[in-house]
Amino acid sequence: LKILSVVGARPQFIKAFPVSDALRREHDEVLVHTGQHYDESLSDVFFDELDMPEPDYNLGVGSGTHAAQTAEMMERLDTVIADEDPDVVLVYGDTNSTLAAALVAAKRTPQLAHVEAGLRSHNWEMPEEVNRVLTDHCSDFLFAPSESAAATLESEGIHDGVYVTGDVQYDAVLRVRSTARERSEVLNDHGLHEGEYILATVHRAANTDDLSRLGAIVNGLAEAPKPVFFPVHPRTETVLHDSGLWPQLADNENVLLIDPVGYLDFIRLLDGAERVVTDSGGVQKEAFYLDTRCITLRDETEWTETVDTGWNVLVGADPDAIRTALQSTESLPEKPSLYGEGAAAERIADVLSEFGYE
Ligand code: UD1
Ligand code: UDP
Repeated sequence: LKILSVVGARPQFIKAFPVSDALRREHDEVLVHTGQHYDESLSDVFFDELDMPEPDYNLGVGSGTHAAQTAEMMERLDTVIADEDPDVVLVYGDTNSTLAAALVAAKRTPQLAHVEAGLRSHNWEMPEEVNRVLTDHCSDFLFAPSESAAATLESEGIHDGVYVTGDVQYDAVLRVRSTARERSEVLNDHGLHEGEYILATVHRAANTDDLSRLGAIVNGLAEAPKPVFFPVHPRTETVLHDSGLWPQLADNENVLLIDPVGYLDFIRLLDGAERVVTDSGGVQKEAFYLDTRCITLRDETEWTETVDTGWNVLVGADPDAIRTALQSTESLPEKPSLYGEGAAAERIADVLSEFGYE
């Protein structure tokens, strides 16, 4: 089969890392980068350190309003999809790059395959929720990370083309965990000690675009009981500077602000952290895979199993809840298997192969 995969934002490069590898053993892949993320630390670093194939196209779309960014991606993708004429267009997750490719593919001949289908936060204010619902409803192949994601699709009337594959980010973590321990110098470089620091990431629009929420998060991190290591997404860095909140963290000896780090360093940091405070989707799962306690700065999550099993706690941007969660010493419960066995990429490639033989 000829499969045209579309990526554009940091988590999608990481998800494509195991999947591209599996696809290329059986199929021809054309890799398209929309250019949604373009900073070295949000894009090139992953292709370089993970030895990923260079994208065949970089559409160079860059930042913009949701409408402008999505529209620009659609126009440019439409030309590429018309020229390449793939059998399948494959998209990941829930970003604007995902939705743009889904809408273009749905109105052309290729089949549309969605990796991470069936996730729902049930918060329609969240741009990613719009992207994931619309993408699922345009898709021919829906690769769900869990039985509950498949059940959600069923409840929305999507009965065909659903495959429970497990989570491709689990595949990715399993591939790099030991290499990260051997090769990453990030703990030494920053004087961090295993189990003695808190890792933080914040970039979700609901937090960066609401200063009362961001202020509460900054207060929580500033008062954390252990050193905080915080790789700052450029979106968050801009808002922290513009709002005057930056010095509260930068001048605090307990907090280390740094540019976003590569995947090996991030996995090393997450593996060694005493706990992680985040509003990321992917980091909630990765924390679970790496046995790290997770505090999620959101009011709801689409990765509900991590909360239901007691490995993740939702604190929103509530100062008391953040403080309590940062200090909790309750032991973590036994760990069930939630999102497959780390063979999701193979399963996706195999399902597509079966389709190719039909
Ligand atoms: C996007 C996704 C989000 C995902 C996140 C992963 C959407 C709607 N959002 O959010 O789901 O969790 O990526 O990190 O698709 N910027 C830079 N350099 C870059 C890219 C962005 O400085 O390389 C800055 C720009 O000011 C830009 C802002 O970050 O306006 C937001 O970037 P954008 O890609 O629109 O959204 P993210 O917040 O990164
Ligand atoms: N990540 C990284 N470096 C960082 C922060 C995160 O490599 O400084 C990785 C992390 O391991 C995960 C992914 O980026 O695989 C999560 O991306 P992000 O939080 O930006 O997006 P989301 O998952 O919320 O869509």
